[in-house]
Amino acid sequence: MERFDAIVVGAGAAGMFCAAMAGQAGRRVLLLDNGKKPGRKILMSGGGRCNFTNLYVEPAAYLSQNPHFCKSALARYTQWDFIDMVGKHGIAWHEKTLGQLFCDDSAEQIVTMLVAECEKGNVTTRLRSEILSVTRDYAGYTLQLNGDVVSADKLVIASGGLSMPGLGASPFGYKVAEQFGLNVLPTRAGLVPFTLHKPMLEQFQVLSGVSVPSVITAEDGTVFRESLLFTHRGLSGPAVLQISSFWQAGEFVSINLLPDIDLAAFLDTQCAEHPNQSLKNTLAMQLPKRLVECLQQLGQVPDVTLKQLNARDQQALVETLINWRVQPNGTEGYRTAEVTLGGVDTNELSSRTMEAKKAPGLFFIGEVMDVTGWLGGYNFQWAWSSAWACAQAL
Ligand code: FDA
Repeated sequence: MERFDAIVVGAGAAGMFCAAMAGQAGRRVLLLDNGKKPGRKILMSGGGRCNFTNLYVEPAAYLSQNPHFCKSALARYTQWDFIDMVGKHGIAWHEKTLGQLFCDDSAEQIVTMLVAECEKGNVTTRLRSEILSVTRDYAGYTLQLNGDVVSADKLVIASGGLSMPGLGASPFGYKVAEQFGLNVLPTRAGLVPFTLHKPMLEQFQVLSGVSVPSVITAEDGTVFRESLLFTHRGLSGPAVLQISSFWQAGEFVSINLLPDIDLAAFLDTQCAEHPNQSLKNTLAMQLPKRLVECLQQLGQVPDVTLKQLNARDQQALVETLINWRVQPNGTEGYRTAEVTLGGVDTNELSSRTMEAKKAPGLFFIGEVMDVTGWLGGYNFQWAWSSAWACAQAL
């Protein structure tokens, strides 16, 4: 049986970074993953360019039953620390929008960086590892692998959530938590597109590919100002992904399709200047033509000139466009979700080290726990920050 100071399960963002930091601090670390390659989600992330952090990271951008939990780790290993590391590896980056930082070239550079950091820490990495059992005795944690038995004083679970099963996601972390008596909060897909009820989907399917700026509001009052995308399955785009984490089944979302103008004032001005202009063409000055045509076919944009539009119809039109109420049928689920909400209850863990209070030597980092960030690099920053905090305690 091979013995290590620490075993880290999951060679994703959190696991690789934690293993590297602990290895560089002199620990003998074994990093295990069930996949063929490390960092598979990183490679897929940010459209292949990895949105690796955000300039405006702050605890308010994270959902958790305990909103204070993430504060310590985020303050001790910040976005600036990670940006510094990226810079040291010569990776060029740029801010796309809203503080979101992406690699100029490829997400692969982040994986290469993490592999290099693991090598610097002499981390032993074993891919294609299936963990058959985890046991604990006086000597620490013993893992039965396919064809091997390994043990360590400390065990770090960095196996992520349930999103994208095609990329190796498994409930392993939740099962280990439960095995050691830790509470696991219900999970659900987050940062995920909405599906629509059939009649509505049929009406809007023609708009697949149309994107508009929007302000989207959930029933709990959470608001995001980002773009919305019509798809052949429903609604997506950053606005929808963001609000999906705040949406519960059966609820409505309210969408302002014209957040940048005062629509009533715009229509009044246009009417004064061009009374014979069609309402359709007037709206097409502010919205994609396909969207206006679709709304007209649905009877929500009257087939009239501006001077024919009476005050009541104008008010109804304004209400439709700035407060479009949509009741999603559901979400696309874990298959396409970027993250998993819920997970290992943070009340079970130390916010300083991520160690389980009931199981000394057992740690949980990254997405497996009940800390979920907004879209925009916040989730990777949580992976780096929680991993760093944990590594200090290994
Ligand atoms: P992660 O899921 O990265 O790693 C877990 C690892 O554990 C995987 O390698 C898995 O194979 C392994 N594993 C699971 N079960 C196991 C088992 N039983 N045995 C052994 N190994 C096991 N975030 C962001 O901030 N910016 C972005 O640009 C994006 N983009 C993005 C795109 C897509 C398509 C997705 C799906 C997600 C994102 N995210 C993101 C979210 C981000 O990828 C996510 O929050 C982090 O990868 C979480 O890091 P973890 O290390 O916790 O889990």
